[in-house]
Amino acid sequence: MIKKYRFGKPFPTEAVIENIPEAQGAMPRFAVDKNAHTFTCPLAKEDRVYGLGEQVRGINKRGWHYVSYNEDDPIITEKRTSLYATHNFLVVAGEKGAFGAFFDSAAKAEFDIGYTHADELKITAIDVDVYLIDGENIDDIVRQFRKIIGQSYIPPKWALGFGQSRWGYKCEEDIRAVAKGYRDANMPIDSIYLDIDYMERYKDFTVHPERYPDLKGLASDMRAEGIHLVPIIDAAVKVEDGYSVYEEGKANGYFCKGADGEPYVVGVWPGESVLPDVLSPEARKWFGSHYKVLLDDGIEGFWNDMNEPALFYSKGRLHAALEIAAEARGRNLVLEDFNKVTSAIGTLANNINDYKEFYHETPVGRVCHADVHNLYGYNMTRAAAEYFERYEPDKRFLLFSRSSCIGMHRYGGIWTGDNASWWSHLLLNLKMLPSLNMCGFLFVGADLGGFGDNTTEDLLLRWLALGIFTPLMRNHTTLGTRNQECYAFGQKDAFRRILGIRYSLIPYLYSELVKCAVRGDMMFRPLAFEYPSDKRATVEDQILVGESLMICPVYEQNAAGRYVYLPEDMKMIRMLAGDDYTEEVLPAGDHYIEVALDEVVFFLRKGHVLPLAKPAKNTSELDEKALQYVKYIDRDTEYELYVGKGEKKSELAGALKKVTVKA
Ligand code: GLC
Repeated sequence: MIKKYRFGKPFPTEAVIENIPEAQGAMPRFAVDKNAHTFTCPLAKEDRVYGLGEQVRGINKRGWHYVSYNEDDPIITEKRTSLYATHNFLVVAGEKGAFGAFFDSAAKAEFDIGYTHADELKITAIDVDVYLIDGENIDDIVRQFRKIIGQSYIPPKWALGFGQSRWGYKCEEDIRAVAKGYRDANMPIDSIYLDIDYMERYKDFTVHPERYPDLKGLASDMRAEGIHLVPIIDAAVKVEDGYSVYEEGKANGYFCKGADGEPYVVGVWPGESVLPDVLSPEARKWFGSHYKVLLDDGIEGFWNDMNEPALFYSKGRLHAALEIAAEARGRNLVLEDFNKVTSAIGTLANNINDYKEFYHETPVGRVCHADVHNLYGYNMTRAAAEYFERYEPDKRFLLFSRSSCIGMHRYGGIWTGDNASWWSHLLLNLKMLPSLNMCGFLFVGADLGGFGDNTTEDLLLRWLALGIFTPLMRNHTTLGTRNQECYAFGQKDAFRRILGIRYSLIPYLYSELVKCAVRGDMMFRPLAFEYPSDKRATVEDQILVGESLMICPVYEQNAAGRYVYLPEDMKMIRMLAGDDYTEEVLPAGDHYIEVALDEVVFFLRKGHVLPLAKPAKNTSELDEKALQYVKYIDRDTEYELYVGKGEKKSELAGALKKVTVKA
């Protein structure tokens, strides 16, 4: 049961695709203060609050406050209140049942979840449609929500293969060396990512003529080895006379404009740049159509970046800051003078005041960016997806984005932005997964090994042992860090084994992903959703993956293993080389399990089976005809398997195979 209540004049985010009429009467559950724009609801001692997608801290969000305002800031610590994305859906679950609430707003919103007052949930949002959802249990509430926001993006199956990325691959030779590195080490790989250096001076939809003289040839050579190239696309377009993307956009008024009606100039990678007005349907269509140049070169996947949008500076603010710095030249700076200079320079990047200075031409008129800020990455990604639909309607492309908002889940997946090579970020990766799924994002993953800072061999191995379960499995790192490719480390057998397990799991992971997309279910679920009356099931460092598995990654340095809580009897599967494994039924309760660095241990739930393929060099070589089934059943059990290449949308209906596994 879903009821909608409108407050103010919300901008049409198009997050919800079903037509739900406004409910009559006062909104239940929350005390509404229309002047303060707050929605307050008491929290009982046992209540847990789930959701908010990409956010810091626990699976249960209680005890902290969160801000929905997409933010480009790579220092992800516990003090943060917002990250790159905004996902305003939450579920409050307690002893008296559960309810869901979606605060559908394009603008800034705040969620104080028992932070100011431990027993109070207080949401602040101006101009918002609030959807309240009642249901039988949390899964039912999520399913109802997912139905009104529409089916989640399904990637092609190859996108579940392992990908290698780094900011710093400069040229074709670097890419070929990565492919060779994996081939020589006999490690599987499906994609290599092209970061900003493939472009000519960071200009969108260009290819550097010397570094990549023949992208088409390179893409085709790589495809012959089963590898896809996946280039990055940045939101901002370089200001440069004669650069066709800039010239066309300017002539047609397709860039965001300042109050003076001129394109608003900001600084990003290519220096002075302008922002495509992706909230205008015409501009969105125009921007999306530029993906063609790369598609024509044989590219089948993209990652959209810097689309919060990230700004190094605005032209006006930079000018003012440089004036302040110039005034200080030659002077003896006392504290106040020095602070004036550092503050002028230090507040240039992603300054919220800049977001107030430019405008979008939308179907409901001109709107200030600050009021629709959270929709930018969503609509940039939509631009690409809508174009792919025109380019080759039946084909599935890989597409994911850094910034997002609910609604974008229909068009692409996400990666969770610039994490770091810290053990705490491995655990954060795990904790975000269920919340992202609740909000519709199924094709998700984090930069494995960590983006910022130098990784270590043990951290990367442990992180990959979690990453083999995330639909997007990509190793990515930043400029200047040590080599992070799996073949760059000493324990090659361990890396080979863990990557191999990923490929064995793909038939299961892909089937679960597709089922969850089609049915509005979650692929990653907290244990508490499945075992609601078990108080110990509120544990946050183990989650369910699909219908059959529970995972419990090791996320601490030097740990030889970890404690695991089993809410019921489960079968422990210890993966050895290839698709070989040992199994052991463990009774419900607490167990310490040893997990060596080169092992993956997970649990199979009672009454369930797990299809396992033989490890393969890449997804196109996966042999689906030779699946074996790991089982923990006492009667014949059916498993719904999605088979096939998963490259075409029209394949889907015929791809569902019901397999009966004998007890
Ligand atoms: C941003 C992205 C990161 C990328 C870098 C250079 O920081 O989040 O993934 O490598 O830009 O393009």
